[in-house]
Amino acid sequence: MMPYILRLYKYKPCIYNRHMLKLEGETLKVGIIIHSHTGNTLSVAERIREGLVNAGHTVNLEQVKAVNGDPNSQDKIEFSIIPDTAQYDILIFGAPVWAFSLSRIMSEYLKQLSSLEGKQVCCYVTHQFPFAWMGGNRSVRQLAELCSGKGGNVIKKGVISWSSKKREDKINALVADITGI
Ligand SMILES: Cc1cc2nc3c(=O)[nH]c(=O)nc-3n(C[C@H](O)[C@H](O)[C@H](O)COP(=O)(O)O)c2cc1C
Repeated sequence: MMPYILRLYKYKPCIYNRHMLKLEGETLKVGIIIHSHTGNTLSVAERIREGLVNAGHTVNLEQVKAVNGDPNSQDKIEFSIIPDTAQYDILIFGAPVWAFSLSRIMSEYLKQLSSLEGKQVCCYVTHQFPFAWMGGNRSVRQLAELCSGKGGNVIKKGVISWSSKKREDKINALVADITGI
């Protein structure tokens, strides 16, 4: 059996983009991990998934779920579904804005992760107000900081303002941006 290091020589390294080196013939596995209470963040995730699949990536879309998903509950969050990040090379995290902050469920999920070391990370949030500065920018920054605090390399961030007239354009731009990874 050929040693691992020699097997690597079979592949010609190629620049995949400015953030990462991809070996020719290698498939990167992408995980889209989201929290969505009313479906907006999920609908954006589905469009990102479609874009990535069309671009030839292997993609899983997984949802973080709490036993009690009530946004007004102050109880300690217990998770019913905790997606495992270990299998993914690239992670896309999406969540809603709750009270001008990242949703507590996504925030607590990220805090309990052991590490995102060595992973490329994209982050996006959805919120109701029409302008990103009305809580969206702050929340996506919180999301990105939690990811980089776990060792992830945050390469892209996006905010979708649900009541903005430019919502469709923004979603299309986010999908194109992430699909270009
Ligand atoms: C408890 C709660 C608090 C919210 N707070 C805000 C807020 O501060 N700013 C805002 O723009 N939207 C706020 N929203 C609206 C959501 O962020 C928005 O509808 C989002 O797209 C929902 O995503 P989802 O459908 O994936 O759950 C709030 C919604 C809930 C349920």
